[in-house]
Amino acid sequence: MSTSNTSFDVNKIRSDFPILSRQVNGCPLIYFDNAATSQKPQQVIDAIVHYYQNYNANIHRGVHALSQEATDAYEKARRTLQTHFNAPKAADIIMTSGTTHAINLVASGFTPFLTKDDEILVSALEHHSNIVPWQMLCERTGAQLQVIPMTQDGTLDMSAYSKLLNNKTKLVFVNHVSNTLGTINPIEQIITAAHQVGANVLVDGAQACSHIQVDVQALDVDFYVASAHKMCGPTGVGMLYGKTELLEKLPPYQGGGEMISEVTFEQTTYAELPHKFEAGTPNIAGGIAFGAAVDYLNQIGLDRIAQYENELLQYASSALSKLEGLKIYGTTENKTAVISFNIGDIHPYDIGVLLDKMGIAVRTGQHCTQPIMDFYGIPGTVRASFAFYNTRTEIDLFVAALKKATMMLT
Ligand code: ALA
Repeated sequence: MSTSNTSFDVNKIRSDFPILSRQVNGCPLIYFDNAATSQKPQQVIDAIVHYYQNYNANIHRGVHALSQEATDAYEKARRTLQTHFNAPKAADIIMTSGTTHAINLVASGFTPFLTKDDEILVSALEHHSNIVPWQMLCERTGAQLQVIPMTQDGTLDMSAYSKLLNNKTKLVFVNHVSNTLGTINPIEQIITAAHQVGANVLVDGAQACSHIQVDVQALDVDFYVASAHKMCGPTGVGMLYGKTELLEKLPPYQGGGEMISEVTFEQTTYAELPHKFEAGTPNIAGGIAFGAAVDYLNQIGLDRIAQYENELLQYASSALSKLEGLKIYGTTENKTAVISFNIGDIHPYDIGVLLDKMGIAVRTGQHCTQPIMDFYGIPGTVRASFAFYNTRTEIDLFVAALKKATMMLT
């Protein structure tokens, strides 16, 4: 398969992903639904199998050899995440079941600290998972939710953001990258401005971390959350980075084993970070494989990945813009390899079904971002999201399949 980036051996990379050689509906799979979940390389699959085959045991609990091995591997994965995100301490990384869990943990934790006089800001580009937990927080506390508006090209209105910030603003929530439009938000600017009024910022990095190198200290971000499954890791595991003083201030999210220091019927005291937020047996295999996924991405290099994916984005955008009636939503140049579009008044679902018959996986609908659809006044879009294991040849086949689908549907 062709690629213009000769230093980037996409065929070798593709051979790491067993699923990419399967057929769907009699055609070779073309997987363009990477923003929903990425595919998994053999190295990550092996990490999961190796754990269950060789040292399956509960962690932090046993004196026996298997438990020690499992604990060591799990904590090694936490250190891998610490290094990757440049967190000051491994204890600043809380293992969660994913981004949604991490956001809910923080939203729940702020309940005692907000009143009806406080304001929290959320961007118009958010996934429902970065809207609903804050609405629930407002319901619990009486705080007011304000929205940073978006503009036609799918970027945030930064002058409106500046005007919304004031001394009542306590929290700001924004995604690093929009899952629907691919827009890369100016989070450095957002964080700096929020800190000037004393607000804390949570950045949802679910869509960013497989494309962009994140340094939480350089960003000076208060909370940064991510999901393993968007980063070539397994589902059911993610992470919350938080500044130590903030994580110490927040109460535990769930009660249970692991998160305690001492338990009596009169009083319970809580464990130190990170365990305070890690009640119950975690997704041990998933956590270990999350570490393997980060190692895998780093072995290729996120800069090289971003450059290659950007070439795919330019190639696909140019080819798609030649199709009659096709409109792309999210047109800023500063975006990841996500293309949301519609063709004429054809329902996105109908296009998705026909593409699937030709072995091509895309996502259709609102992408858990109904406010973005309402902004554009559309029921949904077709979303093609590319990863570093996709190719120009696949894009050519996709464009040909879209032409065919359009002819069948008009
Ligand atoms: N958040 C995921 C997506 O955008 C599920 O598809």
